[in-house]
Amino acid sequence: MKFKSIELEQVAGFKSQWPSENIEEIAFVGRSNVGKSSFINAFLGRKSLAKTSSIPGKTRTINFYNIDNKFRLVDLPGYGYAKVSKKEKEKWDKLINEYLHDRENLKEVFLLVDIRHEPTDLDLQIYDWIIDSGFTGFIIATKYDKISKNQLQKHISAIMKKLDVEDEGLIFAYSSENKHNLGVIHEQIEVIINN
Ligand code: GTP
Ligand code: MG
Repeated sequence: MKFKSIELEQVAGFKSQWPSENIEEIAFVGRSNVGKSSFINAFLGRKSLAKTSSIPGKTRTINFYNIDNKFRLVDLPGYGYAKVSKKEKEKWDKLINEYLHDRENLKEVFLLVDIRHEPTDLDLQIYDWIIDSGFTGFIIATKYDKISKNQLQKHISAIMKKLDVEDEGLIFAYSSENKHNLGVIHEQIEVIINN
């Protein structure tokens, strides 16, 4: 899939700032620091279009990336970051929940988890919601470069167990460092867009 024009169309801190629902959107959710913004950069082939940081809590708004006026990728704030104030946390949770629940043109939601760690109860809660809402339930297990290949199955199994995933094909072991499986995810997203 080659893109002609990629644009950060909107940075939204409020629902009233969301762009119109004229084209479909694919959203990326997950804990703070799992690598949502890094994935979007890698996917779009832009090094630093989406701002990333080693400090959790970098993305604090909903960022809409318009691709060829055909679809949008949506970068959401992360959840579960302990070091922000309760008030701030509530604000982000509201942003995320409101978007997931209210967005009519939401075509697919990908859950990102860090491959090294067992998903949290919050991950499970969101994943259950994803499945209950009728989305496929794709999972991108990030930072695969941080574990050795012979540890892969153990980590995938832990993710499947915690999130109650039966089909291993839904999980992509992925790395923004070495782009492992980026091509496969590209193909999957192309299928989603053209469906
Ligand atoms: P929030 O916006 O805070 O929710 O975080 P995020 O999920 O957008 O994470 P972000 O992309 O900002 O990445 C967080 C940190 O993890 C950065 O230091 C990235 O460089 C690093 N990172 C992201 N993906 C990978 C990966 O696949 N491998 C490695 N080794 N580091 C990664
Ligand atoms: Mg981010």
